[in-house]
Amino acid sequence: MYLVIGATAYFGRQAVEELATLSGVTVRALTRTPAKADLPASVALVAADLTRPETLPAAFAGVEAAFLVLPYGMDVAPLLAAARAAGVRRLVFLSSGAITGRAEQQPDVIAQYHRDVERAIEASGIEWTFLRLLFPAINALTFATQLQGGDVIRAPYARAAVSAVHERDVAAVAARVLVDGGHGGRVYDLTGPESLTQAQQVRILDEVLGRPLVVEDLDPAPVLQQLSQFMDAEFLAALFGLMADAVGKPAPVNDVIERITGRPARTFATWAADHRADFGA
Ligand SMILES: NC(=O)c1ccc[n+]([C@@H]2O[C@H](COP(=O)([O-])OP(=O)(O)OC[C@H]3O[C@@H](n4cnc5c(N)ncnc54)[C@H](OP(=O)(O)O)[C@@H]3O)[C@@H](O)[C@H]2O)c1
Repeated sequence: MYLVIGATAYFGRQAVEELATLSGVTVRALTRTPAKADLPASVALVAADLTRPETLPAAFAGVEAAFLVLPYGMDVAPLLAAARAAGVRRLVFLSSGAITGRAEQQPDVIAQYHRDVERAIEASGIEWTFLRLLFPAINALTFATQLQGGDVIRAPYARAAVSAVHERDVAAVAARVLVDGGHGGRVYDLTGPESLTQAQQVRILDEVLGRPLVVEDLDPAPVLQQLSQFMDAEFLAALFGLMADAVGKPAPVNDVIERITGRPARTFATWAADHRADFGA
């Protein structure tokens, strides 16, 4: 039995669907509200809440391996205690590419939270694998909202280069690592197959959607100030810092996804085509 946490959001949902296609694999999805989960019929649903430890033993009972996609800031101690008590053999954690190395002290709050979770998992005694993801392609969905109002995309750091990862590749790696084993104690940096600036991503969207899109590179300072009114200031500073660091140099590209899944990482053009409906096409 394989358990997926965060199963109703992007990454976890894709992982559940990927696992459900594998023969001989039974999947359980953890959610606070099974009635709203809308997952394949073959998937078992378990009602549990990571902030209510008494709900977790039922979620982990009989589980061999679990994929952890955690809401940012979630305390991981109760779930690790439940996993250990249930005899779970393997944990795969969707971590962050903002982390540098294995140091205890990290440069920003996003890296620090994810490294703290990694360290707690390392200390749990359960076999672990960390999938460090820096820039998922779904971040480009922020452009979709703007395109409802016209053909202009205004974004800070339009010249930041990223190596965007398709959520289906994250899921495919997670499924292989969960099911195959042999990846214990490994930290995998997940990248897409190409380094593209955000402006180059918009050019690709332009072609896929058949719309003449225009990119305007915004001054980050006023955007940061505006977003600070309704988002955590430290989190935003970390996010903007990562984007600022990505300007003027290519993003790292590796073959981890291909090595683990046996097929090349999906391109941004493939992602855009898969998400045409999200852009109103
Ligand atoms: N976006 C990025 O740039 C990026 C990059 C690298 C890594 N990541 C990782 O991906 C994570 C976000 O993943 P996401 O966007 O797929 O999910 P999300 O939107 O952050 O979280 C929503 C998911 O968490 C579940 N959830 C929330 N509170 C819960 C609780 N108290 N108990 C049980 N489940 C709970 C929800 O399930 P129900 O509502 O069904 O209960 C839902 O499946 C980040 O926190 C980070 O660790 C993100």
